[in-house]
Formats: sequence, C-alpha cells, structure tokens
Amino acid sequence: MALPAQSRPAALPARGARRSPRTIALVGIDGSGKTTQARELAASLIADGFPAAYRQNAGGRHWFGRIAVLLGRADAEDLFGRRGTLAVESALRWLAIARTLLRRAVRREIAVMDRYAVCQYASLRAHGARPAAERFARPAYRLFPQPDVTFFLAVDPEIAQERIERRGYDHESIEYLRGATDAYRSLPEYPGFVVIDANGTPDQVLKALRAELGLDQA
Ligand SMILES: Nc1ncnc2c1ncn2[C@@H]1O[C@H](COP(=O)(O)OP(=O)(O)OP(=O)(O)O)[C@@H](O)[C@H]1O
Ligand SMILES: [Mg+2]
Repeated sequence: MALPAQSRPAALPARGARRSPRTIALVGIDGSGKTTQARELAASLIADGFPAAYRQNAGGRHWFGRIAVLLGRADAEDLFGRRGTLAVESALRWLAIARTLLRRAVRREIAVMDRYAVCQYASLRAHGARPAAERFARPAYRLFPQPDVTFFLAVDPEIAQERIERRGYDHESIEYLRGATDAYRSLPEYPGFVVIDANGTPDQVLKALRAELGLDQA
C-alpha cells in the first residue's frame, strides 16, 4: 500500500507485512518505555520523510491519580474505587483511540500509538476486574481496526520499576508489574504481537523497532 505522499520514501517496508503499516501500536507494562519509544519512533520516521505522528491513547489514570493526591487521597482508585477507575479509564481510552483514528484518517498520517485497546484488556486483568468487565469492554473496542503492527515492549518488571521510580511521578509495586506482565501474556492477542526486548538502552530499543519495520539492520 502506498503511503500518503511526502518527499520520500513512498512506502514503509515492513518485514513480512502484506502492506505498509499505517497504524503502529506500542504496548507493554508501565515503565516499559512506550511513551519514550513511540515519540522516538515517530520522530525517526518523520526524519526519514514519512508523514508520521505520535499519538497517545491514554486512559487518564495518571491525571486522575494527580487529582486524587491533590484531594488528599492516595491514588485514583482511592478516589473513584477500583471499579469506578477501570470504568472511567475504559471510556477515556476508547475516546482517545477514536480521536487518534479519526485524525489518522483525515491527515493520512502513520499513527505511532502509545497504547491501544489491548492495554485496556490487560489493565482490567491486572487490576483484578471481573471477567464481565472485559466482556463488556471488548465489543466497544472491537469497533476499532487492529493496528497494522503491535509492538510489545518486553521488559523485566524490576527494570520497569526502577525506571518508574527514577521518572519520579508515580509508583508501581513489583507485584502489580509482574501481574501486568502476566496479564499481557494471557491475552488472546498476545501471539500476534511483535515482541521487542525493551530492557536495553533507548537507542537499542529504537533500533530493534526500526529493524522490525524494515528500516534498519537488526
Ligand atoms: N530503554 C530505556 N532505558 C532506560 N530508561 C528508559 C528507557 N526507556 C524509557 N526510559 C525512562 O523510563 C521511564 C519510563 O519510560 P516511559 O514513560 O516511556 O514508559 P511507559 O511505558 O510509557 O510508562 P507508562 O505506562 O507508565 O506510561 C521514563 O523516565 C523514561 O525516560
Ligand atoms: Mg507512557
């Protein structure tokens, strides 16, 4: 599939893909480097002449956490309850993805997406939601097309925790990060993910992503 024209190149070669990717999703546990890599990958594609854009499909948990702290609570779940937080997160992420896909259609850009629908299924599982919650969420998210490629940033939970602590604006327990890893691996979508070793330096991870897209040597 030819990409929307810019100076060069005409198409993004993707190894083994039937057509050039127009939606690239980065998923993985907190601290795996999704935001860092989605920004870097979009910037590198733009530098190569592709009409790429970084798009964040956030569920609002970070901001609700901040509001909760301002209101004297520990975190979002302390303010809204676990089920309330998951419901709000599911709705906000749905809206964010809808907005991303609309923009992609209008601007004919390659959307490099920081999270996608599968992150919500993993979040529901990792936060111990009842199976009914995922059964309710899935039909709503199924309206969205599958990304052309979904990169799973595989990181050791201990490394992810260190990164989150260094980042300094939130905390995640090692139990939660391990549970979140298991949640991603348990998803029926997991076999379709392109697994990237995300334990290395940002440059190493970016190189691996670009190699999978057929842009650089592995
Ligand atoms: N490969 C890396 N090596 C070392 N530090 C990294 C690497 N990738 C990202 N970081 C740093 O680790 C922290 C977490 O990265 P980032 O925010 O990109 O993760 P994330 O997957 O988006 O997390 P969240 O799910 O919480 O949004 C950031 O401070 C970032 O600068
Ligand atoms: Mg992030």
